[in-house]
Parts: sequence; structure tokens; C-alpha cells
Amino acid sequence: MKGILLAGGHGTRLHPLTIGISKQLLPVYNKPMIYYPLSILMLAGIREILVITAPDALPIFQRFLGDGSQWGLRFTYLTQERPRGTVEALLIGRDFIGNEPVCLIFGDNILYGHGLSGKLQEAARLTHGALIFAYYVGDPHRFGIVEFDATGRAISLEEKPAHPRSHYAVPGLYFYDCHVADYAAQVRPSLNDELVITDLNRIYLERGELRVEVLGRGVAWLDAGTHSSLLEAANFVQAVEHRQGLMIACPEEIAYQRGYIDAEQVRRIARAMGNNEYSAYLLRLAEEPPAGA
Ligand code: G1P
Repeated sequence: MKGILLAGGHGTRLHPLTIGISKQLLPVYNKPMIYYPLSILMLAGIREILVITAPDALPIFQRFLGDGSQWGLRFTYLTQERPRGTVEALLIGRDFIGNEPVCLIFGDNILYGHGLSGKLQEAARLTHGALIFAYYVGDPHRFGIVEFDATGRAISLEEKPAHPRSHYAVPGLYFYDCHVADYAAQVRPSLNDELVITDLNRIYLERGELRVEVLGRGVAWLDAGTHSSLLEAANFVQAVEHRQGLMIACPEEIAYQRGYIDAEQVRRIARAMGNNEYSAYLLRLAEEPPAGA
């Protein structure tokens, strides 16, 4: 399975923070926002990743993330000329996707929790249809919403409804089969004249090919797309990392645990970073055998 990381858009909901810098490069506590969705793709076992950025941000992302080989990954870059909606990621990525299934994740989604890694690896085995997740939230009008019938079957999907039919929001993490670009081409502009991902998911729903998996309350899903949610996400990461002494979304750690890179490479990255808490963590990590070994 391939991965697409959508890091485009103007981040207007975060202005003035994002006037001079891409939203996905803003800090969420001790690392840039994009590390969190990137880690989700890595935990799913996905190594070939298309990063989609706004045109002016492209050189910055390329300099910052490189070709991915430092983490045992392979990055390709493309741009979204104007933010015409999230579905466009799959149209832009059509050649990249080719005949393979693909996982799309939005650059401001942060997921963390017990058992998540296993769920992601399972999801990455998808070959037919689509798989999305549902997560109970207090403010459902801000998201794509899925409604279930009494037997737990998904029966409707709505984007940011004024009167939500349920509290189950759909996180910005989607697994699709190889037909997704064809279905994406059928989506017509809706909300704010954009190609909305919920309309794409509805195509799979109507075909009877959509699986919706509920993420329980043991999983934290945070989006860092507004001033408050950005700060909440940072506070959450700090609280968990401080308590456990372990990092959330450290690409070097995941790459090392998965055997994509060796201890020497972890040390090399740490040394290049100079003296700080992040590099100290990496140097400690390189002293331990990888958990997967
Ligand atoms: C997008 C999707 C929405 C989804 C959300 C998750 O909204 O359109 O369905 O629930 O991401 O983060 P956006 O954040 O682009 O407004």
C-alpha cells in the first residue's frame, strides 16, 4: 500500500500563524505537525509516500523532509495549485497510486492510543473497497459525520452538518482500493465549491464497499487545525511524553523499531541536530536494541 500525505492549503483557520509558514510545519510541542500523520503512515507499514504541498511551500518541505531515505522511506512530491478540496489529493496522486491501494492522511491529524498500530497494519492490508474510521466527538458539526443504524452499519455520511445525525466524526485517515482515483473523478464540488472527501466516501458507501471502524475512547484523535486545537494537541503530547519518557510520533524511533534504519543512522541524525532533548532521546534510543528485533 502507498501513502498520500496532504499538506496543502493556506491554513487560513490558523492565521496569522500560517501567513509565513505552512500549517503542517508548525510545532506541536516538540516536533513539526507533519511528523504525526507521517508516523501514522509509518506505523501502518507504508514506506512509499506522496507529499502534496502548496506550490510556494514545496521547496521548504523538500529541504525539510528530503527524499525520506534518512528514515528508510521514499518520498515523492507534488503540488496542489489552489486548494480545491481534499479529494483533489487523489486526482493529483493518480499516477503515483497506479494500481495499488492507498492510504490518505491529512497533515493536521494526530492519532495516538493503545492498539492503534495493530489497527493500522490491519487496515493497510485492504485490497477491496474503502475503510474509514469513526470517533465520538463533542462538536460533530466541525467534521465529516457518519450515522449508524441499530446494527452498527453505516447508513449516512454528511460533511459538517448544521444538525449532525450522530456524534461520530470521521478522522482524516482513509484507506482506499486501487479504484479510488476513478471515483474521485466523479466527485463534484459541494461545500465552499470544494471537492469534499465525504462525497468520495459516500460513493463507496452507496456501492456497499465502505467499512467504518469505530475508534474507541482509548484512542486520542486530535486535529490541530484551529488555534485552540493546536494548543490542546501540544499540551496532550507534552503530558503523555513527560509522564512516559517516550515520544509520540518520532519517525526515527519507528524507523529504527521497524528495522528500516540502524542504530548508527539514528546516531547520525541525532548528531546533526545538535544538543537538545530530541537528539538526547535519539541517542538513548540507539543504545537499546530495536523492540522489533
Ligand atoms: C476534513 C474532512 C472532514 C474530516 C476532517 C478530519 O475537514 O472534510 O470530513 O472529518 O477533515 O480532520 P477539514 O479539516 O478539511 O475542514
